[in-house]
Amino acid sequence: MSEIARIILDGKEYELPVITGSENEKAIDISKLRSTTGYITLDPGFKNTGSTESAITFLDGEKGILRYRGYPIEQLAEKASFLEVAYLLIYGDLPNIQELDYFRGSIAQHTLVHEDMKRFFAAYPNGAHPMGMLSAMIASLSTFYPESQNPNRPFKDIELTMHRIIAKLPTLAAQAYKFTMGHPIMYPKNDLSYTANFLNQMFGLPTTNYEVDPVIDDALDKLLILHADHEQNCSASTVRIVGSSQANLYSAISAGIAALWGPLHGGANQAVIEMLEKIKNDGGDLQKWVDKAKDKQDSFRLMGFGHRVYKNFDPRARIIKKAADDVLSKLGVNDPVLEIAKKLEEVALKDEYFVERGLYPNVDFYSGIIYRALGIPTDMFTVMFAIGRLPGWIAQWKEMIENNEPIGRPRQVYVGATVRDYRPLNER
Ligand code: ACO
Repeated sequence: MSEIARIILDGKEYELPVITGSENEKAIDISKLRSTTGYITLDPGFKNTGSTESAITFLDGEKGILRYRGYPIEQLAEKASFLEVAYLLIYGDLPNIQELDYFRGSIAQHTLVHEDMKRFFAAYPNGAHPMGMLSAMIASLSTFYPESQNPNRPFKDIELTMHRIIAKLPTLAAQAYKFTMGHPIMYPKNDLSYTANFLNQMFGLPTTNYEVDPVIDDALDKLLILHADHEQNCSASTVRIVGSSQANLYSAISAGIAALWGPLHGGANQAVIEMLEKIKNDGGDLQKWVDKAKDKQDSFRLMGFGHRVYKNFDPRARIIKKAADDVLSKLGVNDPVLEIAKKLEEVALKDEYFVERGLYPNVDFYSGIIYRALGIPTDMFTVMFAIGRLPGWIAQWKEMIENNEPIGRPRQVYVGATVRDYRPLNER
């Protein structure tokens, strides 16, 4: 017999179905609660609310498990390529050789962006943040492909839009950087790998021959894999909810980029490095900063610590910490900021405040250090995260459309004024 939950409201008992996931996760289905009882549930920040039944990513925050479509993140980070993982997330399983060839080929075919888009870049002020540009550019892409407005077209058309976005996001990201630098843009070279093509567009110049360092190429590929999906996080939920209004995929991804930008989400990787530099420039007194983070009167938080779902450790942070050590030693980089990071981790992990609250370094604590070593400028860190997260957003959007999910529309408990009469201006 299937499980049920019982709830007593105003002395009356109601039964609610219990849903069990494939990893034995339990949820009480409250979707009919309001229509049967008149009550809604209240859960600010959706800390305890499942918004969907999803088959893409499984994570167990207590045990530190993360799997894409059943495959452990550790195996994927070690053995797969980013485009293989992107295919896995979007199509549901790992590609065979022909499928991967088709996918890679299609992505390579669509890397160019319309030349008119250069005019948009030219109009941004000096110092414009690349995340602002990227979000606007992706939304603008929809205007070049008016046929993409309808998300319910045949799969082949939808697939083309997905491939276009995966192909064009690195091009637009690199162009944003080039415009900031005042350098000429580099066009994509489609015989290069996905990551090498991006690095060449970022760091190549028409005047010199830029050789992509395989160590950098590998490290970047691994970072993108680690960021590729993370179930119903802030930006993925944004993508699903925007998409649920039947807005086109470009608009949904643009909204996801905007959500990711915040320092409590993807923007943390930039904030971590800025914080570590601040600590270093302030003399490196780590205890002082840990104490500030604990002080409830002080708005300072240790960036890169804590996670909504990981309360023991972030499995991605473990992989990335090792990768940071490897990359830095292979590249021969001696980064004092990394030393501060290591010591800060030590101090915080011994502190009762952090232990009690389950605050551990998250993926962003170390990703910024690697990006720095790869030569990526700080304000591009969150852009790198966006490139990595893109397949996850697309997979989440696709699942939402295929499940024919209703428009996302939470309710509220109203706590404002009760009814009152309008008073003319001269009587107020
Ligand atoms: N520094 C100091 N205290 C913290 C920190 C931190 N980084 N994170 C959480 N806390 C404290 C809170 O003040 C709160 O304390 P209290 O119980 O005494 O009130 C307690 O820990 C719980 O924190 P919440 O903010 O309620 O936890 P929530 O799950 O809502 O937030 C979040 C998670 C946003 C990630 C938070 O830990 C944070 O702000 N971290 C720093 C930013 C960061 O690194 N974000 C990246 C997340 S990973 C990602 O998006 C890829």
